[in-house]
Amino acid sequence: MHKIPVIIDTDPGIDDFFALAVAAASDKLDIRAITPVAGNQTYEKVCRNVENIRQLFRMDGVRIATGAKCPLVSAQRTAGNVHGEDGLGGVILPKAQQKAESTYAWDVIYEEAKRAQGRLQIAALGPLTNIAIAVLKYPDLPSMIDKLFVMGGTNGFGNVSPYAEFNIWADPHAADIVFCCGIKTVNMVGLNLTRQAILDIPEYRRVFSAAGDGPLGKIVTQLIDYLGTRAHGLGNTAMTLHDAIVTAAMSDDKLITYFPSYVRVECQSENAFGQTVVFAGNGNRVLEQGEPNVNVADTLDLERFKSTLSASLEKLKGRVAL
Ligand code: RIB
Ligand code: CA
Repeated sequence: MHKIPVIIDTDPGIDDFFALAVAAASDKLDIRAITPVAGNQTYEKVCRNVENIRQLFRMDGVRIATGAKCPLVSAQRTAGNVHGEDGLGGVILPKAQQKAESTYAWDVIYEEAKRAQGRLQIAALGPLTNIAIAVLKYPDLPSMIDKLFVMGGTNGFGNVSPYAEFNIWADPHAADIVFCCGIKTVNMVGLNLTRQAILDIPEYRRVFSAAGDGPLGKIVTQLIDYLGTRAHGLGNTAMTLHDAIVTAAMSDDKLITYFPSYVRVECQSENAFGQTVVFAGNGNRVLEQGEPNVNVADTLDLERFKSTLSASLEKLKGRVAL
């Protein structure tokens, strides 16, 4: 069966690391490019992390583009309080030999969309700045994208405010442009979904035991230990790997259920800035606010996700390049 041509737009980011692991291990995904975007940390840091992760997982031949260094309109805000000063909890990866190419992310997305002839799927795991610039620069691009998966937003409580989730809040203007640009399938995997995969450290230890006690096992243990300390610091005793659920869902359409809705992003309000306003739709009936433009993730098969995460790490443990 033909592999799915995929671009991963990302801001590593500890959960982005695991998302790239799941994608790298998948037999169903043909990763054409990774497009770094400023988000969890400044652009230079996330780009360096992408370069090092590509080498670690031996994602040879996968392009790394040059992405957006700041949001479209908002001031830049990062998430060092969760992911650390370097974006990966201080966990040292071998320094990549191969660096990102100078081609901009929006141009790489358009090139790969043309090459994929309508089959391109994109996982957006950070702020939607690169995607927004791409659809603004290339008005025919939305019709060339088969599916866009977005880790972002929520149909419930936020994480940076009671209403807003970090990826959308960091660049809400970009998110609203992307939700309304006409891509035929936009799957929004928000916190209401990813919080169904909150696990505590012992549970993660069980899932990650598949990575063995070699180099990969040591790296993932350090990453989750760091995330655990940050979660504790935020008053939690468990956490979730938001982004990894998205790349798992790209090659497994039974993992998540969705409902179609009309979604807009709040870009004015002081208190609800960055909120994804989910006008729940029921089927394709035109709503008074607008026709459904986003499939909102609703339920997760947690055991299925855990086994995918475990199987991915098992597969990669013999492949990592140190
Ligand atoms: O709110 C969670 C999202 O913000 C994840 O993508 C995480 O990596 C951060 O980017
Ligand atoms: Ca991310």
